[in-house]
Amino acid sequence: MIIAPSLLASDFARFGHEAARVHRSGAEWLHLDIMDGHFVPNISFGPQVVRAVRPHFERTLDVHLMCSKPEILLEPFAAAGADSITIHVELGAQVTPLLWKIRSLGKKVGIAVNPPTHIAEVKPYLSKVDLVLIMTVNPGFGGQPFIEECVPKIQQVETWRRQLGLKYRIEVDGGINDTTAVECARAGADTFVAGTALFGKPSLTTAVKRMRRLTTAAGQHASLL
Ligand code: DX5
Ligand code: ZN
Repeated sequence: MIIAPSLLASDFARFGHEAARVHRSGAEWLHLDIMDGHFVPNISFGPQVVRAVRPHFERTLDVHLMCSKPEILLEPFAAAGADSITIHVELGAQVTPLLWKIRSLGKKVGIAVNPPTHIAEVKPYLSKVDLVLIMTVNPGFGGQPFIEECVPKIQQVETWRRQLGLKYRIEVDGGINDTTAVECARAGADTFVAGTALFGKPSLTTAVKRMRRLTTAAGQHASLL
């Protein structure tokens, strides 16, 4: 299982310090929520922040673009040090060329799907991506409640992965805590983005280790069913 703390929930006055803290926690990925104030009603941070945190986090920088025009952002984020770049399936006709562009930049490719969007929308792209991100809140803000109705979407992409013999990771993002993470692991998720539930704890390291332990056990139990 992979735990990916979301920088969105960190101390915005100390991004470098916070990235180093995530590194020390042993979290495999650092998730960076990029918001443009158009695709979502909020603005977070851009490529310069990725560049700033890059030296402080030596494992995977997982960039999630909640942006309406990602085509102008792919190269700056790749140059800043992103290892994986995820775009939203809601972008429609732009999706295929964007996925090819991310691949051409030598980065891992992710596709995200919002709660109201039918999971069938991502099926055409599954063979082209390394990661499917199931949003479990409506994107834009941290600290929102988990949307239970998204769980069947996790099960569906896990079934397709098995049936199609593909290897993409299944990531969940939004309202993920120890309880909802276990529910998502049981449904087939293997990568967990969490902001509030991890940065809100006295020890990030303890919280990361606990979420990893709980989701690993839940995932193993599910595979025995
Ligand atoms: C929503 C963001 C959040 C963030 C995590 O647009 O993507 O989901 O990563 O937020 P928490 O874990 O605080 O719900
Ligand atoms: Zn995200």
